[in-house]
Amino acid sequence: MNDIEQVMEKYQFGKQMLETEIDILLKEFVAEHGYNPVEHVKSRIKTKRSIMEKLERKELEHNTYNIVNHIDDIIGVRIICSFITDVYDIVSTISQSRNIIVKERKDYITNPKETGYSSYHLNVFVPIYLKNKVEYVPAEIQVRTVAMDFWASLDHKIQYKFDDTKMPDDIKDELYGYSLAIKELDERMAHLNELMKKYMKEL
Ligand code: GTP
Ligand code: MG
Repeated sequence: MNDIEQVMEKYQFGKQMLETEIDILLKEFVAEHGYNPVEHVKSRIKTKRSIMEKLERKELEHNTYNIVNHIDDIIGVRIICSFITDVYDIVSTISQSRNIIVKERKDYITNPKETGYSSYHLNVFVPIYLKNKVEYVPAEIQVRTVAMDFWASLDHKIQYKFDDTKMPDDIKDELYGYSLAIKELDERMAHLNELMKKYMKEL
């Protein structure tokens, strides 16, 4: 096995560890609170091709050292929730896990990116248990609402169409406008969530 294959195998182990840990945390959350805040969870390993493209964007040479030290989202997990409050509950649950070490957090819900992108990111380390040592591998966890996910996948699809050429300003503006509409919808649905809780208590 060459260098890069060995590294990729470690990321596979890391992804499995993280999936299992998140699965346990979510089951415990449901047992404790009596409801499931998560719509679905997706995880992936970045393809070699997109790892190489990212190195190029960062103007870094293609080698294993740069992959290990400069790309922190080779393991990616996305957790999609119904409501904004659920996003923060999940972030807090993950932050309390002994098996997930949070390196950095980026709250693009409070401070969206200039494109309009909104999501909560946790850059973390997860342990992998090798024969006679423990190693830590990086991963990126994105937590967002269904509405934010809808916006991000639409934006991603459109970005892809324009490939390396820049997205025209009128399309950018249009997408930015949708992100405001999505934010408003999420806020209104938070209100619905509060109303529901009130009626559930009365039942
Ligand atoms: P990287 O060097 O790519 O990690 O950039 P960064 O550290 O400035 O950004 P960050 O890690 O916070 O976010 C990167 C990830 O967030 C991307 O891989 C996407 O999944 C997502 N993302 C960030 N901005 C956008 C955006 O404008 N549109 C969409 N669709 N996704 C975005
Ligand atoms: Mg990043």
